[in-house]
Amino acid sequence: MGNTIGTIYRFTIWGQSHAPEIGVTIEGLPAGTLIDRSKLQAFMDRRRPGGNRYSTARREGDEVFFAAGLNEASETVGAPLTAVIRNTNTRSSDYEELKYVPRPGHADYPAMVRFGGARDFAGGGQFSGRMTAPLCIAGGIALQLLEARGIRISARAVMIGGETEEERMLAAIDEARAEGDSVGGVVECVVENVPAGVGEPMFDGIENRIAQMVFGIPAVKGIEFGNGFACASLRGSENNDPYIFSEGRVQTRTNHAGGIYGGMTSGMPIVFRAAFKPTPSIAKEQDSIDMRTGEAVRLCVHGRHDPCIVPRAVPVVEAAAAAAVLDEMMMSEIHV
Ligand SMILES: Cc1cc2nc3c(=O)[nH]c(=O)nc-3n(C[C@H](O)[C@H](O)[C@H](O)COP(=O)(O)O)c2cc1C
Repeated sequence: MGNTIGTIYRFTIWGQSHAPEIGVTIEGLPAGTLIDRSKLQAFMDRRRPGGNRYSTARREGDEVFFAAGLNEASETVGAPLTAVIRNTNTRSSDYEELKYVPRPGHADYPAMVRFGGARDFAGGGQFSGRMTAPLCIAGGIALQLLEARGIRISARAVMIGGETEEERMLAAIDEARAEGDSVGGVVECVVENVPAGVGEPMFDGIENRIAQMVFGIPAVKGIEFGNGFACASLRGSENNDPYIFSEGRVQTRTNHAGGIYGGMTSGMPIVFRAAFKPTPSIAKEQDSIDMRTGEAVRLCVHGRHDPCIVPRAVPVVEAAAAAAVLDEMMMSEIHV
């Protein structure tokens, strides 16, 4: 069902937005791996809504509970690791109208066709942004393993609603909210200190792996590495990254490639940007249809929705990058 990803660091995300619980089951962690629970919780708290005025009023306590695979000393026991989050702040009544009237921009219509009446539509079901909480558990743990190897990952919003300066980005969110609308944006992520030569050719390249993971984040519509689409209008002499020997190692003077050639790392920082669309659920009236009658209806989406997903998506992008890079590093260590 598409909820499982990874080759060695492999995990399955399960649950739905308003199910009693959501979580993740992770395989591939060596026995005896120490998990810093408070550090993981602090990472989870960066994604949690209700923390600032730019996110939804839903209060989701994303407290992580380990149901299996971890001993009392917080070490993995060599069995699959299952982490659970209880869903407490659900209000399914907000979704009654949406059972038959698909929200433009959301997954409602394809999910109706695909899963029929049995589907769980409350809170967006399995298509909810809530499903990024378990992704943050898998990514937060991956981050701890990578940090122990000296690898750093950090993401930030670089554009929101067409604005690139922080105060203006926040103002764009406020304006959209005031109009019952939403805005999208771009998150840039940098992964530092990954050694050269990590990755596989062709389909298992590090770009492929990161892209597959990042497209698992709802609302992502594009990803580019390095200078991305801009490289298409440059000459080779402008786009190539000249090699230099600096600080005792091979580097490149520029990093237009975003640290990747041939699906493998160059030793320069991996740099990518993910484009997020504006939140589909908006209070502003939109056209839709009543699926029971086929009649046109005007829809205002009620409930508690972020006018912009981007601020909350920043740690989610870090999590996705961490999970993909850790898996790729584990693979490269085997396939030498
Ligand atoms: C952190 C996060 C929070 C989200 N919150 C909402 C929300 O409150 N309302 C909404 O309509 N969509 C929200 N989304 C986006 C939808 O889940 C997503 O647009 C939908 O599943 C359709 O998938 P697609 O946009 O990838 O095609 C959120 C996404 C993320 C990453």
